Amino acid sequence: MTIGLDDVVAAETSLSHVDGEAGRLIIAGHDLEELAGHASFEDVVALLWDGLVPDAAADPKALLGEARQRAFARLAPLAPQLAGLAPVEGMRLLLASLPDAERDHAALALGAAGVAAAMSVRGARGLAPVAPDASAGHAADVLRMMRDAPVSAEEARALDTYLVTVIDHGLNASTFTARVVASTQAGPLSAVVAGLCALKGPLHGGAPGPVLDMLDAIGSIDNAEAWLDDAMAKGERLMGFGHRIYKVRDPRADVLMAAVGKLKGKENRIAFAEAVEASALKVLQRRKPGRRLDTNVEFYTAILLDALGIPREGFTPLFAAGRTAGWVAHAIEQERTGRIIRPQSRYVGAWPAEAA
Ligand code: CMC
Repeated sequence: MTIGLDDVVAAETSLSHVDGEAGRLIIAGHDLEELAGHASFEDVVALLWDGLVPDAAADPKALLGEARQRAFARLAPLAPQLAGLAPVEGMRLLLASLPDAERDHAALALGAAGVAAAMSVRGARGLAPVAPDASAGHAADVLRMMRDAPVSAEEARALDTYLVTVIDHGLNASTFTARVVASTQAGPLSAVVAGLCALKGPLHGGAPGPVLDMLDAIGSIDNAEAWLDDAMAKGERLMGFGHRIYKVRDPRADVLMAAVGKLKGKENRIAFAEAVEASALKVLQRRKPGRRLDTNVEFYTAILLDALGIPREGFTPLFAAGRTAGWVAHAIEQERTGRIIRPQSRYVGAWPAEAA
């Protein structure tokens, strides 16, 4: 038995597959590289939800546009409660307010996740929510709702690539959590809220904000190796590196790095990130020989979302906005099995004294 459930298969899924030795991610029968930057988020949602969510394939853009509007009508009155909350906690508050028994719950959850990501970033700063535009693409609309300013086609494409890249990823901690909740038949919105709670920790989806903190603390390329070595000497983990499944570079890192490269005027930032990455890999190899620690998705997530002007506390809400599509699909897949997930623990506590 391993405490972290390494190598345990807890579900069968047709949604995605992670090959950690080959550095390959397959989403609904397609390699990630075929989808990210080539198909829109809405189209990949339709692929993922095929056979699980009725009508998802017919017009996914309209489905999500309508869902954002429906979600906004429910969530906007809660805006005053967001002030002072970390955005990911504001997002948790907003999503937790939605009922499980709701028509088109899959689309509602995904529309709500986009609206809640934008609203919670604004609400934390005391800013009023911005209403969705049902006719816009999902990524463009989420970014516009978050910043309340126009979004260029280039920026919309970059965020769309990000949302596709994080849409699903095997039985990661948050997806497993969502499936456990769904297995009790608690309902899809509850599964999504549970997924978000698992995602927010720094060992999972909470990492990209701290990646940016790390880059800021490093400051210049000359300082990178010494700073990273010192952090590891103190027993700290380098954010954006290491993965339970990937033993080689996370393929999502390459996709996101290429997406940053398509944004104009970010050349210096990319050069800095690449230099820090190279130093980190060197330090990890030296300090943890034989551990096979490589770059994960969060390193270039931080670079990409920062390049889009998104505040760092909005990174995890945006991760959740993309991953909700996966959580919903896994929840429905799990519900259909009709089987509760109920593992066992090994008791290591004291036993009652035997009666004399
Ligand atoms: N920096 C320094 N050392 C590390 C790191 C790191 N980022 N990651 C793993 N190690 C070391 C760890 O200290 C351990 O060393 P030792 O055997 O001497 O005790 C060894 O490598 C194995 O680590 P582990 O904790 O058994 O590995 P895991 O598979 O349980 O953890 C992880 C995976 C992602 C939690 C971990 O690599 C980590 O904490 N990374 C930093 C946080 C991060 O970037 N999180 C985002 C993950 S990717 C997004 C997602 O898909 O969730």
